[in-house]
Amino acid sequence: MRRSMKQIAMILSLVAMVNFLWILLTIRNHLQAIDTTILLYHNAHDRQDNHNVRLPGPENLNVQRERNERWSSDALERVLLDSSDRLADSVNDMNTSVISWNVVQDPQQISAASKSYFKDIERFPQVKTLTVRYGFTRLSEILPIRTYYNYSSNNCSKLMYPGSTKLVLEAQSHAECTSDFARTLEPVGLRPLIGSLQNGLPPETNVFPDVILSFVHVIQGGYIDNEGIVTSRDVTIRSQGCGMDTVGGKYNPEWTLIDKIFVISERWGEAFFHSLVENLPRLLPWLKYLQENPTIKIHIKSMYHNIIQKVFNISYSRVTAGNIRANLIILPAGIPCGKPAVYPTQLLWYQIHKQLPAIPMEERMNLVLIKRLPRKNRYFAFHKDIHRLLVIEAEKHNMTVVVFDDQHMPSFEDTMLMFNQAFMVVSPHGAGLTNMLFSQPGTILIEGLCRAALNLCFGAMSQVLGFRYYGHFRDDKDCFEYTAEELAVSIRFYLRRRRAL
Ligand SMILES: *[C@@H]1O[C@H](CO)[C@@H](O)[C@H](O)[C@H]1NC(C)=O
Ligand SMILES: *[C@@H]1O[C@H](CO)[C@@H](O)[C@H](O)[C@H]1NC(C)=O
Ligand SMILES: *[C@@H]1O[C@H](CO)[C@@H](O)[C@H](O)[C@H]1NC(C)=O
Ligand SMILES: *[C@@H]1O[C@H](CO)[C@@H](O)[C@H](O)[C@H]1NC(C)=O
Ligand SMILES: *[C@@H]1O[C@H](CO)[C@@H](O)[C@H](O)[C@H]1NC(C)=O
Repeated sequence: MRRSMKQIAMILSLVAMVNFLWILLTIRNHLQAIDTTILLYHNAHDRQDNHNVRLPGPENLNVQRERNERWSSDALERVLLDSSDRLADSVNDMNTSVISWNVVQDPQQISAASKSYFKDIERFPQVKTLTVRYGFTRLSEILPIRTYYNYSSNNCSKLMYPGSTKLVLEAQSHAECTSDFARTLEPVGLRPLIGSLQNGLPPETNVFPDVILSFVHVIQGGYIDNEGIVTSRDVTIRSQGCGMDTVGGKYNPEWTLIDKIFVISERWGEAFFHSLVENLPRLLPWLKYLQENPTIKIHIKSMYHNIIQKVFNISYSRVTAGNIRANLIILPAGIPCGKPAVYPTQLLWYQIHKQLPAIPMEERMNLVLIKRLPRKNRYFAFHKDIHRLLVIEAEKHNMTVVVFDDQHMPSFEDTMLMFNQAFMVVSPHGAGLTNMLFSQPGTILIEGLCRAALNLCFGAMSQVLGFRYYGHFRDDKDCFEYTAEELAVSIRFYLRRRRAL
């Protein structure tokens, strides 16, 4: 009897020790990952001055249950106004009558993806830099999206460690992947944003508690190549984006000279996703300034004039591309390839949703199914079965299935409404998902991921825009092979809980 008591006591203390070690390890891992932000993050949630470094418990993560119906915020409008005024001052301060067109043979190459970027660029007097900063603990005052979720997958280990460091959601966003659907139901506070706040900034430059949300350079005289690389006298500046290996065009005095230009182009910028998620958002922190100064041209590759004209209220005649010289160049922070940046992307979303009704979750009646032409493996071979399944499920809930067919695309306005009213979007991986910019927070995205060239950019976009994300992944199948039965698991789960979302 005595011996077994002793044994039990020993086992108990062992368990306690293992537990303690586990907690220490967890804390250490998280501290490594999110560094000093953890304390601030914690404070952001319970708004108490608690200086014990401990991980926020679920009780602190649920505070943002508040509905997302009110997008607008006076605090945000003040920041936007202030940014526009400061940019106007900087442009006015630049004396463009003193430009030297003496372009040196080998200008110094500076990359916005380098740690020392802000220091490097300071050395060039022809470049002026402005930043937009805001207190991390007060971010929810200005961010139009207030609810964020854990993401989910049948194979979290694959999503977290896909063998490529390029698009690892975990490292990128500090969001957490869980195979337990139920854990994506409740909002988790600002945590999923911590990593994405760095997107577009030089690594390790973000100093908490004052985070840099965006920056812009005003450059006196220079030239821009087709991929948005800017050279001014003795410096070539590569913003973050796709194609970081490009070096910039060679100066040619024959190139068209214009007075002022705002540059948001990048390699692949003509493609739908890259244009909407990486190029156009760069303009948003400075939109007011551009609206008020109609003579400034805009350097971008894409032809999505609907957004530029109808959403930004900027005349498409201002858009230009190719090799250009300019007396004054405004170059906003770039956005890395496939990694949405929080502030500019949310501002784009905000600008779009000023024109769309805010529909509460329980009144969103569309189940959107994306149909893609069989190309690059990115389509559902069992589209018909999946459609049938959705129709059956929709009937149970009095909802409507709408197909977004990339061969017969609806008008811009209809596309906006279709996605705005979406309760759920079901799709193989592909650019049509970019239309979720028109969707509202909490909307569920069920994506069939493709094992070859696994790309989690829509998972990342979901984190930044507050969607609930479920990624189907199979390493014994390609994305076009998903059956209706396989997808039914996640589809039914969310529909059954429709009333509770
Ligand atoms: C711009 O520079 C030129 C040449 O140095 C000078 O004459 C002019 O006064 C300057 N203009 C302003 C507005 O500073
Ligand atoms: C998840 O993906 C990894 C890597 O491809 C694989 O080794 C593992 O078996 C998968 N797990 C499941 C449950 O499918
Ligand atoms: C989010 O995921 C993490 C890790 O699985 C978990 O600890 C946390 O409780 C989840 N949050 C919610 C609201 O389910
Ligand atoms: C769009 O801009 C024009 C000026 O360029 C202005 O007159 C008009 O009121 C603006 N429209 C909206 C909806 O803001
Ligand atoms: C289904 O929707 C229609 C119109 O949208 C409504 O008239 C009807 O009452 C709804 N039925 C149920 C069971 O909610």
